[in-house]
Amino acid sequence: MATVLEPNSDFAALPDLPPEVFTAPLQKPAHLGDDWLEPAQATYSAEDHRIWDDLFARQMEVLPGRAASAFMAGLERLDLGRGGIPEFGRLSEELGALTGWSVVPVPMLIPDHVFFWHLANRRFPAGNFIRTRETFDYIQEPDVFHDVFGHVPMLADPVYADYMQEYGRAGWKAMRYNRLKALGALYWYTVEFGLILEGEGDVRAYGAGILSGPTEVVFATEAASPNRIMLNVDRVMRTDYVISDLQPTYFVIDSFADLYRQTVERDFDRLYRSLPPAFTYANSAVIDVDNVLHRGTQEYLLRGGRGSGASPV
Ligand SMILES: [Fe+2]
Repeated sequence: MATVLEPNSDFAALPDLPPEVFTAPLQKPAHLGDDWLEPAQATYSAEDHRIWDDLFARQMEVLPGRAASAFMAGLERLDLGRGGIPEFGRLSEELGALTGWSVVPVPMLIPDHVFFWHLANRRFPAGNFIRTRETFDYIQEPDVFHDVFGHVPMLADPVYADYMQEYGRAGWKAMRYNRLKALGALYWYTVEFGLILEGEGDVRAYGAGILSGPTEVVFATEAASPNRIMLNVDRVMRTDYVISDLQPTYFVIDSFADLYRQTVERDFDRLYRSLPPAFTYANSAVIDVDNVLHRGTQEYLLRGGRGSGASPV
């Protein structure tokens, strides 16, 4: 039997983990298989499809010139604007032809070890449900719009697709060292809130958390408030992050090849051994070793952030 200490190195099977490794009890709905996947994608109403179309149209007003070129290319190649919530079978066929990835429906946030296992096998677990009109502007749980619109276009980029697979593999190691929090920060500051420098002063967003909402894409790329700092994997994995508000700091990469190299060539065993269990740096901190592109005013944060009426500038 595979354990946390001896995970499968080929990632072929989901490990059977002892219950003490989980921070919360697992509550798998009865209709799900052990892989936590929905047997089939949900059936959506006409209103669900209209919500997708309206979200799509809203994003297309702000993304050109602010979203990474690779994201816009992926959106185009996968034709995600053809109308309505994409059918995962067809989407997986098209994505599979490009990079070998598939998209599989899940009903909720899934446990870390299952998530890593899917990524390590080039499967992206995507929320099956879509937000309502009432939660149109903000929903904390990742729905089909966040997961498919926000994440899937980047998986059409071959280098980024490899990075995501390596991230899944790194998850096993992080579990072994009890450093999931640190690896989570890397996911947060790259896959969810990453920026890329495409030319002199031309900072674009590639993180799904930024790209799937209308406000943060402008804030992250143009506002004076947040820090924009060149990515350093060691530094990022020691940095706290905000879950339910705009980020005080964004980390910027030169290229996806550089992101892949920084991650894959890193000796994670050594890194995990040196990382303290808690984060070292506050999410708004600028430290001596940082290569700073823009030092933020933090005006949004200082005025109280979300709920205070502060303008995201
Ligand atoms: Fe996400």
